[in-house]
Amino acid sequence: MLEQELDTVLLDQINLPADELHVFQNQEDELIKMMMIYNCAIRRVKTKFQVLNDELSITRQRNPIEFIKSRIKQPKSISSKLRRKGYPITVESAMGHLSDVAGIRVICAFIDDIYKVADMFTAQDDIELIKRKDYIKNPKMNGYRSLHLIVEVPVFFSDHKEQVRVEVQIRTIAMDFWASLEHQLKYKKDVEDAENIIYELRACADVINRTDYHMQSLRDRIVEST
Ligand code: GTP
Ligand code: MG
Repeated sequence: MLEQELDTVLLDQINLPADELHVFQNQEDELIKMMMIYNCAIRRVKTKFQVLNDELSITRQRNPIEFIKSRIKQPKSISSKLRRKGYPITVESAMGHLSDVAGIRVICAFIDDIYKVADMFTAQDDIELIKRKDYIKNPKMNGYRSLHLIVEVPVFFSDHKEQVRVEVQIRTIAMDFWASLEHQLKYKKDVEDAENIIYELRACADVINRTDYHMQSLRDRIVEST
């Protein structure tokens, strides 16, 4: 395969738009390598959750995970975050300072499944827990709920091993539904009636939370009686 074609294949695989290749000046090769490393870390972490889900679906006859989403932060967003935080705009700086270049979102049906899969995941001996933020027990003012984990996972290459940071967000289907809509509000400027929308989103988050716990207790009653 030609050198050029090889590049294109890799760029497609890591979903890196060609026009973003030059965001980090004179670091095109380093940027592609960084994206490749994060892509590998995502694959490793994703597989871990899939394995847990497969195992639990047999031992407990129930899938704790509904689905998994993942993304790599695009170079433009990486550089604006670095700029915002006052760090140099380089690949080394991104890898050293940012914890969310690689992101995985694990969507569960029930709240207790969130804690179960999180505990099983962080107990694995190649997972190093860097930070845990429980926005379910301590929701944000706007009503946002999720369990956030920043972890480091080893990725093995031909001649070395690298510890790579991944941000994992674990939430219920309902919390995910809420966060998607609230996220849209954040990125829209001049939304008419924004104050009321914020207030009503907060109210929806509380209803969703009560419903999440109610569904969980209904599930327990159904499971106990079978
Ligand atoms: P940085 O976001 O890296 O500056 O650090 P942080 O301390 O703010 O991280 P935090 O764990 O609070 O948030 C990380 C990610 O969680 C965000 O990038 C979002 O994807 C998600 N998140 C956090 N808060 C909210 C929120 O209020 N609404 C929505 N929709 N998503 C949120
Ligand atoms: Mg943030």
